[in-house]
Amino acid sequence: MKILIVGSGGREHALAWKIVKSPMVKKIFCAPGNPGIAEVAECVDIEAENVEGLYNFALKQKIDLTVVGPEDALTAGIVDRFRDGQLRIFGPSKRASIIEGSKVFAKTLMRKYGIPTADFKTFDDLKQAKKHLSSCEFPLVIKADGLAKGKGVFVCKTLEDANKHIDDIMNEKIFGQAGDKIVVEEFLSGEEVSILAVTDGKTIVPLSSAQDHKAVYDGDKGPNTGGMGAYSPVPLITDELQYYIEENILVPIVHAMKKENRPYKGVIYAGLMITSAGPKVLEFNARFGDPETQVLLMRMKSDLVPLLLSTVNDNLEDVDIEWHDCISICVVMTSKGYPDKYEKGLPISGLETLKGIDNVQVFHAGTSTKNGKVVTSGGRVLGVTTVGKDLRDAQKNVYEAIQKLSFDGVHYRRDIGSKAVYQKK
Ligand code: AMP
Ligand code: GLY
Repeated sequence: MKILIVGSGGREHALAWKIVKSPMVKKIFCAPGNPGIAEVAECVDIEAENVEGLYNFALKQKIDLTVVGPEDALTAGIVDRFRDGQLRIFGPSKRASIIEGSKVFAKTLMRKYGIPTADFKTFDDLKQAKKHLSSCEFPLVIKADGLAKGKGVFVCKTLEDANKHIDDIMNEKIFGQAGDKIVVEEFLSGEEVSILAVTDGKTIVPLSSAQDHKAVYDGDKGPNTGGMGAYSPVPLITDELQYYIEENILVPIVHAMKKENRPYKGVIYAGLMITSAGPKVLEFNARFGDPETQVLLMRMKSDLVPLLLSTVNDNLEDVDIEWHDCISICVVMTSKGYPDKYEKGLPISGLETLKGIDNVQVFHAGTSTKNGKVVTSGGRVLGVTTVGKDLRDAQKNVYEAIQKLSFDGVHYRRDIGSKAVYQKK
C-alpha cells in the first residue's frame, strides 16, 4: 500500500514512525512533513490546508490511504473532497469535524444529549457577555468558539481578567473570526485525561488513556499551549471509569452526531476533567492528539494500518488493539518564548546521539533544515518520547535523553508524569 500522511508535527512523525513498521505498507509520503519525518517517509511540499493540491497528488500517486493529522485540514473539508473523488481517507467530514471547529456547537450538542460537561452560556455579543459576568462566580472559563491552536481558552480568576479576555477575543479579534462567539463556562477542578477512540460511526474502539500537560511551566503554571508533554496509561483511569466514559460520553457523542445528520468517522478525542462528581467533557477534538499520539503509538503493539483501514471500510467490529505493558512519556522541548513570540532557525545539537536506541524516539515537530543542518522552526520543536517498565523508569529515560539535546533558549517541563505518582489505582 501507499500511504499519505497530512501534517508536519510531532503527531505526524509518530504516525509515520508507526505506519512504516506495517508489513502492509510499501511507501509513505508526508505533506508537508519535517526533517524527522523525512527519515521514514518522502516529504512533499504541499501545505496541510491545500485540499485541492493534496487531492491531485493522491490521485496521481495512486495513494491507497490518506491519514489526516491537523484539524484545519479537516474543517477545510479535505475528507469530503477525497471521498467525492473515490479516494480512501481517514478522518471526519467537514460537517462532523465541527465538533472541534465550534465550541458553541459542541457544548450545545452535549447539553441536548445529556453528555456530562461544565455548565455554560454562549454569546455572540460583547455587551451581553460582559453583563452576564457580573452575576458569575469566579474562577470561570472563557473560550473562543473557533480554532485557536489550543490557545483560545482562558481560566479567569477575577472579573477584570475575564473582561480583558472578552475584549481581546471579541473586540481586538486576536483569534480572528474564531472569536465571533464565545462560551463562558463553569470552572471544573480535578485531573485532566485524554481518551481517544476510533470509530466508523457504528463501532467504537477506545485507545488507551493519556494525560497531556497544557500549561507552559511546571506545576501547571503559566498560559496554555498546544501541549507540553504526556504520559500513558493514566493510573486514575480504572476499568470502571473507562467503562463509564465509554457508556456516558463516547457512545452518546457518536450517536448524537449520527442523529444530527453529521455521521462521525475517524478519531474522536474526548478531553476530560475527572471531577469529584465524575468525568466531564472539556472539549472534543476531531483528530489524534498531540502529544498524546506520541505516547499512545509507542505503547501500541498492534499494527495501526488495519485499524485505520477498518475505520474507512466500516468494519471496525473485527478489530482489537493490543498494548505493550509499559509506561510511555513524551516531553516537549520548546523555543524560548512559546506560546508567545519566539525565534526560529536555531541549530539543534545532539540528535545523532539518540538514533537507534530502542526505548527512545525523538519526534520532530517545529524543525526544518538549513544548510544541511536541523534547526528550530516552530514553538514546539521536539517531542522526546520513551518507554519504561514503570513511571520512574520512563521518566528517568526521558530526562536522560533530553540532556543529550540542545538549542539556544530551550525550555521544557521537568514534571511530566509526576502527577501519576500520586494517583491511586
Ligand atoms: P479546551 O480547549 O476546551 O480543552 O481547554 C483547554 C484547557 O483549558 C483544558 O485542557 C483545561 O486545562 C482548561 N479548561 C478548559 N475548560 C475548563 C473548565 N471548565 N474548567 C477548568 N479548566 C478548563
Ligand atoms: N494535546 C492537545 C491536543 O491535541 O489538542
